[in-house]
Amino acid sequence: MRKGIVLAGGTGSRLFPATSIVNKHLLPVYDKPMIYYSLSVLMLAGIRDILLISSQRDIAQFQALLRDGRHLGLSISYASQEQPRGIAEAFTIGADFIGEDSVALILGDNIFFGAGLSGKLRDHTDDRDAVVFSYRVKDPSRYGVVEIDAQGRALSIEEKPAHPKSNLAVTGLYFYPNDVIKIARTLTPSARGELEITDVNRIYMDAGRLNVEALSRGYAWLDAGTEAALLEAANFVAAIQTRQDFKIGCLEEIAWRMGWIELDHLIQLGRQIKGSAYGEYITALAEEAQ
Ligand code: DAU
Repeated sequence: MRKGIVLAGGTGSRLFPATSIVNKHLLPVYDKPMIYYSLSVLMLAGIRDILLISSQRDIAQFQALLRDGRHLGLSISYASQEQPRGIAEAFTIGADFIGEDSVALILGDNIFFGAGLSGKLRDHTDDRDAVVFSYRVKDPSRYGVVEIDAQGRALSIEEKPAHPKSNLAVTGLYFYPNDVIKIARTLTPSARGELEITDVNRIYMDAGRLNVEALSRGYAWLDAGTEAALLEAANFVAAIQTRQDFKIGCLEEIAWRMGWIELDHLIQLGRQIKGSAYGEYITALAEEAQ
């Protein structure tokens, strides 16, 4: 079974003073903590065994919020990253947790949305190769950038290039086979002093083992790493939720729809936070299903 890692460390310095006391991934994106969105993507991929990595200072708060995950039909464990030494460090920190399995990594500030997303994710549950998801953006220099040929094979992959070879950003969701642990152990820090996820992806690309799956225009991909992006993400979530009366990233709903918790339990979870729109939404869902 593929395991999942959510990376929610870093200093959040780009958002100071909003993040001087509170971890960035606990800030609200409209009506729920940012971490709900990335966690929901792993859940939609069918992943139930999850490691959350954050700084030692902040782990207690994540634990208070998500506990051991059992109430959501999950098993959530926690590990600390002392310094933000790079995204690829997740695999050495998480080596024991991953064990012999394959793994999906998601960055805690990434938000994905779109019809058919869960099916697309579940297509890759047994892959022997690495899978990254590309998304066309206007400002590729802010991201990892992948260049592909006519067959969709990766030709080059670069981290924040000044002169991007394409407008395809590599999103913060990655699927890897078990040998990613070995690969991560061989990395050395980049010029900016980080163990780069882009270097991991380049190693798979050079071995002919990197699949690039396009998230087309029907999907939304947002990262909430700057104040402008955070506001845009909140407005996006608000617009969809208000119009459709469906919530994006409602963990209790996903757990129930995946068949991991019973209806009775869903009712209890709604009652525990009644009075909030989020709680009322869960209760309404449960009543509709009765
Ligand atoms: O959002 C997608 C992009 O994420 C990719 O296109 C890039 O290839 C990838 O390097 C990354 O770029 P960012 O510049 O956005 O990474 P950032 O340093 O902002 O970190 C992303 C998240 O990971 C953030 O929520 C904090 C967390 N993080 C980051 C580092 C470097 C950690 O928990 N530990 C770390 O050591």
